[in-house]
Amino acid sequence: MSLLAQIESVKAEAIAAFRNAADLPGLDQSKGTFLGADGRFTGLLKQLGTLPKEERPAAGKLVNAAKGELETVLGEVRAELELKAALPKEPTDFTLPGRRRSIGRLHPLVQVTNDIVRAFRRLGFVVADGPEIEDEYHCFDALNTPKDHPARDSQDTFFVDSPKRPLLRTHTSSVQIRVMEKTQPPIRIVVPGRVFRRDNADATHNPTFQQIEGLYVDRGVTVTDLKGTVEAVFKEVLGSDVKLRFRPHYFSYTEPSFEIDFTNSLVKKLGKDWLEIAGCGMVHPQVFENVGYDPEVWSGWAFGFGIERIAMLRYEVTDIRNFYENDVRFLRQF
Ligand code: DAH
Repeated sequence: MSLLAQIESVKAEAIAAFRNAADLPGLDQSKGTFLGADGRFTGLLKQLGTLPKEERPAAGKLVNAAKGELETVLGEVRAELELKAALPKEPTDFTLPGRRRSIGRLHPLVQVTNDIVRAFRRLGFVVADGPEIEDEYHCFDALNTPKDHPARDSQDTFFVDSPKRPLLRTHTSSVQIRVMEKTQPPIRIVVPGRVFRRDNADATHNPTFQQIEGLYVDRGVTVTDLKGTVEAVFKEVLGSDVKLRFRPHYFSYTEPSFEIDFTNSLVKKLGKDWLEIAGCGMVHPQVFENVGYDPEVWSGWAFGFGIERIAMLRYEVTDIRNFYENDVRFLRQF
């Protein structure tokens, strides 16, 4: 047999041996048998020098191709055997208890929002939603806010640089208008949502934060209903030692208007007597006119809470920016 024919035949034997290897040590052994320093394939290569000079280039090419083929087969078989070695020897019982997986949890602001919404739903309120990019009409005009009000200044509000000058809503009160425009009373809604103001970030301010708006419209609605409802919800969310205080205030969309102060043992712990937590009031007749309701027939109240304030209190967090930094060491605590 010519040397080249021998090389072909030993190559075929080597491939068969590699493919038949039962495990990784077996494969290594076959590799040694054929490709080791004293291996059979190596031995043939050593004889290449005995070929006549003119046959050597063609033979060299053939030998290189054969070597490449052997390397490829070795690599394939090795990968298969490695996979086989890594598989469990016993069948896996998937019903056994596993290690605890960490699948994350709700953000503390979402938890507080959910609790407040749940408390209102129990009282017959439904959740409504509206756009974060608003127009001046729904955010200000329809809410009876005068043209020269500071909130309408670009110092205080993010305006979008486009011909219609939309803005990022500064409060969820815009959704009151959107809901009343397309629904007839009675109305009982809460609106959790994100709002935006051009505040510089510090421990108690952030350019974006969350509010919950509420709106109740029916015949003969009173401030007493407002106070009773808000008190019931806060007791449910923050504990039964909650006390509320209504202080006269001004909002263009309510008359009379109040700010709600809140206290409980946690507020005392912070060394304070009261914490301002919401704005509210009886819906202004002009607002009803703006949405086509007859103010002689309908009455109602509205409120807006800041979620972060409530969450800070509930979880004893002292810097609002923690809620927005998404540091898992912070978030894991809730
Ligand atoms: N929109 C007010 C704010 O952003 C909060 C508020 C006050 C909402 C009175 C109301 C309301 O619905 O009646 O601070």
